[in-house]
Amino acid sequence: MKQYENFAYIYDELMDDVDYENWVYHIERLISRSGKKVKNILELACGTGNITIPLAKKGYDIVGVDISEDMLSVAYDKSKREGINLVLLEQDMTELEFDLYDLDCVVCSCDGFNYITSSEDLKSVFKKVNELLKSGGIFVFDISSHYKISEILGNNFMGESRDNLAYMWENYYDEENHLIDMELDFFVKIDNQEDEEIFQRYRETHQQRAYGNEEIIALLKEANFDEINIFGDFSTDDPKFDSERIFFTAIKK
Ligand SMILES: C[S@@+](CC[C@H](N)C(=O)[O-])C[C@H]1O[C@@H](n2cnc3c(N)ncnc32)[C@H](O)[C@@H]1O
Repeated sequence: MKQYENFAYIYDELMDDVDYENWVYHIERLISRSGKKVKNILELACGTGNITIPLAKKGYDIVGVDISEDMLSVAYDKSKREGINLVLLEQDMTELEFDLYDLDCVVCSCDGFNYITSSEDLKSVFKKVNELLKSGGIFVFDISSHYKISEILGNNFMGESRDNLAYMWENYYDEENHLIDMELDFFVKIDNQEDEEIFQRYRETHQQRAYGNEEIIALLKEANFDEINIFGDFSTDDPKFDSERIFFTAIKK
């Protein structure tokens, strides 16, 4: 079953409580903290463009990559509505073919790397990012923490009912392999008939991997990165044991 197919069209509605303005602010804060000057950015797993579009509006020269045609289609429509010309590429980042080198910055936000479920594949993505960056270029990304995936999402069941949309989200966590299977059932209103509301049901299964911070740091070092820093949640402090989002910055040697 594909990920981010029909789900792409309700993604932004379900993310309406996420403060993307602050997310973009935080990415810029981490870049400026590193002392690096950034003009061009490659964004991996850009999804519906919630980070891409604000960065483009701020004047960065940005290219977005995502594996989901549907997420990119939503990003494209949004960018057109905002009068922005985005370059969007439909690609699996584990097989990234991109031949613009000497990049200033590569970004990946909101779980993109949790979707890479083998550490070997993640290392090869990091190596490719390293190859694409200029010497001294900055890599900024964030992941859902091991704590969040294992303890908060874990074997949990969540659901919500809204006027036009309802979902059930059931998780199964495999502790041995640090993998979470997330079964999403969602219901989208397609019609109102007299006193009946008609909903269409869709299902998707998403799989993510929980990575420990030390494991990510080791993979970054193996991929030839230096000056690796990690931050908890949206702060510039070290992560705490219960931080749910971990930000990393790393510099190409
Ligand atoms: C939670 S969404 C985040 C989207 C966006 N970065 C945001 O902040 O809203 C995760 C994204 O990762 C993408 N993704 C998952 N695996 C991928 C892969 N192997 N290559 C490229 N994109 C991938 C999905 O299609 C989805 O758009």
